[in-house]
Amino acid sequence: MSDLPRKAAILGAGVIGSGWLARLIDSGVACSVFDPAPNAEAKIAPVLDNAERAAAALIDAPRPAKGAWSLVGSIAEAVAGADLIVEAVPERLDVKHATYREIEAANTDGIIASSTSGFRPSVLQEGMARPERLIVAHPFNPVYLLPLVEIVGGAATDKAVIDRAMALYTELGMKPLHLKVEIDAFVADRLMEALWREALWLVKDGVATTQEIDDAIRYGCGLRWAQMGTFQTFHIAGGEAGMRHFMEQFGPALAWPWTKLMDVPEMTPELVDRIAEQSVTQADGRTPRDLEKIRDDNLVAILKALRGTGWGAGQVLADHEARLRGK
Ligand SMILES: NC(=O)c1ccc[n+]([C@@H]2O[C@H](COP(=O)([O-])OP(=O)(O)OC[C@H]3O[C@@H](n4cnc5c(N)ncnc54)[C@H](O)[C@@H]3O)[C@@H](O)[C@H]2O)c1
Repeated sequence: MSDLPRKAAILGAGVIGSGWLARLIDSGVACSVFDPAPNAEAKIAPVLDNAERAAAALIDAPRPAKGAWSLVGSIAEAVAGADLIVEAVPERLDVKHATYREIEAANTDGIIASSTSGFRPSVLQEGMARPERLIVAHPFNPVYLLPLVEIVGGAATDKAVIDRAMALYTELGMKPLHLKVEIDAFVADRLMEALWREALWLVKDGVATTQEIDDAIRYGCGLRWAQMGTFQTFHIAGGEAGMRHFMEQFGPALAWPWTKLMDVPEMTPELVDRIAEQSVTQADGRTPRDLEKIRDDNLVAILKALRGTGWGAGQVLADHEARLRGK
């Protein structure tokens, strides 16, 4: 039996909402989309094009017929009859709460899945009549390619809703990671924030350019992170004795001045200018749209390589293909 929703509503069709739309219709799910922006259709189209290009190159199994989708004129219209409601409106608590009020007036039983990057679900649930069906399902851009989705319940979330969500996102070809403890910004963004802060310091202090910092990641530790994460990587770095030896060896370094993570650099206009200008130079004439295609091609290549070794994100892809072949 399929765990996919019969109909999904997508509220907010920006970077993330469009990515969810691409992933859902690629699994054959019918979607209604609401976004008040007059140019919503123009924002969605290139994301769907990129997603189709990536899926065609990546997925080595028969894909179902695309789910039908349409842009509709109101939240009420979008959520009518939906058993999954994807909330991808801007990251403002007042906008999120107003959206939930409108959802509750028009739909009583669909799962409400917020894409929020940082608000704890218990905070999102404040003021709701039926908070038990709200979860955070935090995805990563591009949503149509990256398998991770952090699933977080709030104090009022029904356990059965979490179970249903885990099955649903798995069937969408994703890796749902259920975080049992609520914390602002969840896990992955906290890790990215730590790296981002240190990177900002290095640019601000003139230690390295944006290009040098990106090179330090993509030629080295980034490749390790992509396939094993940080703990297993350090476990190996400890040699035969593994992590324990690694911690004995590098533990003292934690007390050395290897990081400025305790402080945040002030985002002065000069620092913003420096980072923005260096980033444009680094792009070497490529527009963000050009870079998106390069990023997608690279992600497809990495996922295929990991599928070949049956490892991590590649195994998620192989499992998804096996499910598609079995249908
Ligand atoms: N950008 C990322 O990398 C990323 C990653 C993970 C999660 N998120 C989260 O996803 C959510 C959406 O972020 P985004 O990056 O797609 O933002 P975005 O600005 O690209 O898109 C937001 C969209 O919501 C629309 N919108 C505004 N008010 C609305 C309303 N009342 N109802 C419906 N739509 C409305 C806007 O017109 C816009 O198209 C945020 O909560 C963000 O934190 C973003």
